[in-house]
Amino acid sequence: MQTVRELEVLRNSIAALRESGGSIALVPTMGALHEGHLTLMRRAKEAAEHVVASIFVNPRQFGAGEDLDAYPRQLQRDSELLEAEGVALLWAPMPDEVYPQGYATNISVAGVSEGLCGGDRPGHFDGVATVVCKLFNQVTPDMAFFGEKDWQQLAVIRRMTRDLDLTRPHVDAVHGVPIVREDDGLAMSSRNAYLSAEQRAQAASLPKAMRDAIAVIAGGGSADRPLGNLREVLQVSGFDSVDYAEVRDADSLERLEADNGNARLFVAARIGGTRLIDNMPINR
Ligand code: PAF
Repeated sequence: MQTVRELEVLRNSIAALRESGGSIALVPTMGALHEGHLTLMRRAKEAAEHVVASIFVNPRQFGAGEDLDAYPRQLQRDSELLEAEGVALLWAPMPDEVYPQGYATNISVAGVSEGLCGGDRPGHFDGVATVVCKLFNQVTPDMAFFGEKDWQQLAVIRRMTRDLDLTRPHVDAVHGVPIVREDDGLAMSSRNAYLSAEQRAQAASLPKAMRDAIAVIAGGGSADRPLGNLREVLQVSGFDSVDYAEVRDADSLERLEADNGNARLFVAARIGGTRLIDNMPINR
């Protein structure tokens, strides 16, 4: 696997991959790789000749007081994991390479960016859309893979890809990959590493409370009461606060009062200083 840190070298390496024939899949990450990321690499490898992974802790998607400095950085370990998955090229630029002196452009996607994580983290999805657009332009992949744990992020990226005519990858080639979960149901996340042993055990109440709420919501009627119960269960189980617990349409992300046949439950909750997010379909 080739590791590239400069844009000029990246362009030459991508040209060489293109010359060798076959399609290119991009898997953008911020590193601190776990089994969820490795599943993305495997799906990409099944679909394309060459897999390009990127690791870039994107400062523009972190708000003031968020965990930009603390975010785990472990390039050596991540490189070994990617190599073992058969990734052809690792694009790991330095911040100056992505945002050089004088950088002034922002991409903002209305609608799907609003509410949920967009409400709690102002500017977050502008940062995500901006960096993903740049990564698409830098790597020029035929397709790209993202985890469904960040369902709203996936919706933002699909909307941006369509709106900005990012023909490569075409919107249909922006693939979502189902959430990979620990044995107790907790969605895998680089941020789970922040949890103490006690918080980690308490965190398992999140997917369980979600499944319990879904069982009621799927039975029909207003989602109000099951969402209220979910909030209570999380607080009793050791979570400090619940940022949101909402039912939304899976595609438009419009807020729903009850299941519409295409609904998902979205939750963000804080335990200690760690913010965990998860989402599940109402109808399986
Ligand atoms: O999901 C992530 O890890 C990041 O938001 C992404 C898509 C790599 C953009 O920085």
